[in-house]
Parts: sequence; structure tokens; C-alpha cells
Amino acid sequence: MDVRDAIQARKSCRDFIDTAFMKQSDIDLILEAGKRAPYASGGPRRAFKVVKKIGNLLGHKSVTECCNNQKHVRNSAVLVVVSGTDIKTKLQSGFPKFVHDCDAAMTQMILQATELDVGNCWIGHFSTPALQKVIGEDLRPVAVLALGLKRRGM
Ligand SMILES: Cc1cc2nc3c(=O)[nH]c(=O)nc-3n(C[C@H](O)[C@H](O)[C@H](O)COP(=O)(O)O)c2cc1C
Repeated sequence: MDVRDAIQARKSCRDFIDTAFMKQSDIDLILEAGKRAPYASGGPRRAFKVVKKIGNLLGHKSVTECCNNQKHVRNSAVLVVVSGTDIKTKLQSGFPKFVHDCDAAMTQMILQATELDVGNCWIGHFSTPALQKVIGEDLRPVAVLALGLKRRGM
């Protein structure tokens, strides 16, 4: 699958098979895609927290609860919390740099996941203070990427 195919195939998945399984090599490639995304000058101002259901069930449950307990978040195998590390620095346009840095990473991770046929969904509905209690007050969460095995036909 080339980039054009991935762009055309990309679709939010909200029907994960409720299994904790996900290949580590896939997680690594998806993270790499996020880390290679463009970022504003002086950056990147982003951090990635990977929360697996296997090995970190309590963390996965906590993050899910912060995301309003959305069913597909609960059923995901892996959650990647993408957060800003410096929320003060702004572009000339007035927009804070960290938001762009994080969003660019999300888009690349989603396209990489699509290419790997890994189900994915951008999660932007969460409680910021609740999530900061889980990941650390020094980080400002921008988005959570839910990943997992797609139910066939999705
Ligand atoms: C900033 C942002 C926040 C989003 N938050 C959620 C969310 O909390 N839960 C969810 O299921 N989907 C969420 N989505 C996914 C959108 O609902 C989805 O991308 C949109 O409906 C288009 O559908 P598609 O991705 O299948 O093309 C979010 C997407 C963005 C860009």
C-alpha cells in the first residue's frame, strides 16, 4: 500500500476485537511515524505515552476512563497519549506550537497504522485534568490514538 492508498483507505475504527494482542513491531513503526512528523521550530514539543492493555492493564483502564469510557477505547489493545511538552511557545500566527506538533504526529501515526491494517481512532474527547493525573501534570494531552485489531469488514 502506498501513501495514496493509505489516505484513501483511512477510516476511524470503532469496532476493535477486544483482545490485548498487537505486534510490537507494528507499535514501533507507528511510533516512529509519529516521531518523524514535522514540528515547529525549536521543537518537537511532544511526548508519546504508550499504554498497552497487556502489562499495563490498570493504566489502560485509567486512560479509558479519562476518555469518557468510550467503548472502542476500552476494547483497544494499545493507547498512545500524545501530549505537548511546552505549552507556552506560540507561532507568529498566535497558535501554540505544541498543538501542531502533536496533530502532525497523530496524522502520520494514523496513516502508518492504516498501511499496517491496524485499526485506529483519533480520540479527542477526554478530561484533561483526569488524564494529566495519569500521565503527569507536566504534559498537556492533545489526543489519544486508540489502536487494535479491526473486526473484519470494518
Ligand atoms: C480532534 C479530533 C477529535 C476526535 N475525537 C474523537 C473521539 O473522542 N472519539 C471518536 O470515536 N472519534 C473521534 N474523532 C474521530 C472523528 O470522529 C472522525 O475522524 C470523523 O468522524 C471522520 O470519520 P473518519 O475518520 O472515519 O473518516 C476525532 C477526530 C479528531 C480530528
